[in-house]
Amino acid sequence: MNSLYYERLRQRRLKPGEWVFQEGDPGDYAYIIDQGSVEIFTTLEDQRYVLSVLEPGAIFGELALVDGRNRSASAVACTDTLLTLVTREQVEQRIEAADPILRMLLFVVLSYLRIESTRFRGRSKPDFVKQLGGDPETNLLPRISQAVDLIRMESELQHAIEDGELKLLYQPILSLKDQKVVGFEALTRWYSPSRGLVPPSIFMPLAECTSLIVPVGEWVVEQAFRALQQIEKVTGDRPFISINIANRQIEEPSLTGYLVEQAERYGIERDRIKLEILERTLMDSELAPRWMEECRNLGFRLTLDDFGTGYSSLGYLNRYQFDTLKLDRSFVQELEENANSRSICKAIIDLSHNLGMTVVAEGIEMETQSQLLADMGCSYGQGYLYAKPMSLGTAIEFLQEHLMGPENSRGSVE
Ligand code: CMP
Ligand code: MG
Repeated sequence: MNSLYYERLRQRRLKPGEWVFQEGDPGDYAYIIDQGSVEIFTTLEDQRYVLSVLEPGAIFGELALVDGRNRSASAVACTDTLLTLVTREQVEQRIEAADPILRMLLFVVLSYLRIESTRFRGRSKPDFVKQLGGDPETNLLPRISQAVDLIRMESELQHAIEDGELKLLYQPILSLKDQKVVGFEALTRWYSPSRGLVPPSIFMPLAECTSLIVPVGEWVVEQAFRALQQIEKVTGDRPFISINIANRQIEEPSLTGYLVEQAERYGIERDRIKLEILERTLMDSELAPRWMEECRNLGFRLTLDDFGTGYSSLGYLNRYQFDTLKLDRSFVQELEENANSRSICKAIIDLSHNLGMTVVAEGIEMETQSQLLADMGCSYGQGYLYAKPMSLGTAIEFLQEHLMGPENSRGSVE
């Protein structure tokens, strides 16, 4: 077999005594031993110290690949050897996608290994802090402190629910034609006593990569349904509520049961409950199709959130039955200057209608955008032009003003 063949298979064949790499080399691959054996050794004053002899199935060279530094030891084939290469791209994406705390722990563990090998060679005095902070290229201290902060934040979040630090805000969704409020999107805020307002973009992913997403998700549902009951009691109106469902929540079997139970408890018709899912969730979660079907069968409504930020795959519109599509703010913001944006918006709106979906345009900030969208046939919108996310009390006032028609449509916002 020629070398090109092995390269395509990402394999390398070595003769006995042939180097895989030498200590200090830069490292672009890790290796899995398919056949043969490999000796890992370090050299000190021309003396060879064997660290390990690895057999088929073992992996080596992972250290340089993960932490981006040079090879910590040398590797040489002992017999005829076949290796499978693991590329940087293969590991890099996975490391980036990993839970941030897990990622930091990995780097910490690797740094200990590096320190140990330095200590073994006795070339420099091991100094943990110096090693961790010394090399600006691979400076681990900021990463570690970030990880430690995330761990701290995680335990704070645990108490935040009990201590009432989470607050649910409601952003009105209006009919573009007559500016009447048709529903609200429930949005979570965390007012931490020590950190101030923590953006959901920080704490939601943190909740998602721990089991905290379950109590946070349930808290949102309970609050939102209770608010809807309150809204009806005060105004007599029955708007819908949109609730964002995170990827991880779909994997939680108790969620649908909880939704049913709480809807009953607060007397909310299930068709007034819209569950918002991101396109990314459809891509990432194998459980999404079954989960969506279950929700539909139970009578909940489904919304495809932020359409336009991900792959905007028309295949998803075809394959999954959504009731509503949310047109992402990035389209809305470009409406005026960008003719392409207008064409795309118009096409998405028409397509949605043909597929029996309503469209909600997100992030409307200007009257002209609202007008353009209405002209294109978009029925609903939300954005700062109408209202920011607001407390329940303000939302009720806003709703009362906007039940009366367009002349009162610029009510107070928070
Ligand atoms: P890397 O530093 O990329 O290249 C040398 C490899 O040798 C290293 O990754 C590990 O896979 C392996 N290695 C380093 N130190 C030891 C050790 N003490 N025992 C066994 N294998 C080691
Ligand atoms: Mg949303």
